[in-house]
Amino acid sequence: MKRFVFIAAFVALCVSATGFAADGAALFKSKMCSACHGAGKKAIDLKESKKDKAGMMSVLMDGKTPDGKAHTKLSHEDAEAILGYLGK
Ligand code: HEC
Repeated sequence: MKRFVFIAAFVALCVSATGFAADGAALFKSKMCSACHGAGKKAIDLKESKKDKAGMMSVLMDGKTPDGKAHTKLSHEDAEAILGYLGK
């Protein structure tokens, strides 16, 4: 019985983890992040960023780039989902 509960919890965790990632991927497209961010584009490829999750969260929730220019502003939930998708 204990083993069943463990397996059920593990499966639930996997399902919720992939659901989260898919959501972030959809947001990454719908919020146009990839219009600016990526190899050869005007802003850095976010997978190459030296910022940790907290540093990225503050850019996304303050709506300002590190040098103070206007940037896409996101809710806490959307920022979490996108950073989850980016592996942060
Ligand atoms: C209009 C172009 C544009 C769009 C759209 C955009 N960004 Fe940015 N972003 C920038 C620029 C420019 C910077 C600052 C310079 C740089 O990091 O190359 C920046 C910086 C960042 C940073 C800080 C990176 C670092 O290492 O300092 C994060 C995180 C980020 N953007 C995430 C996102 C996400 C997620 C989205 C979509 C919701 C998004 N950006 C949409 C242009 C854009």
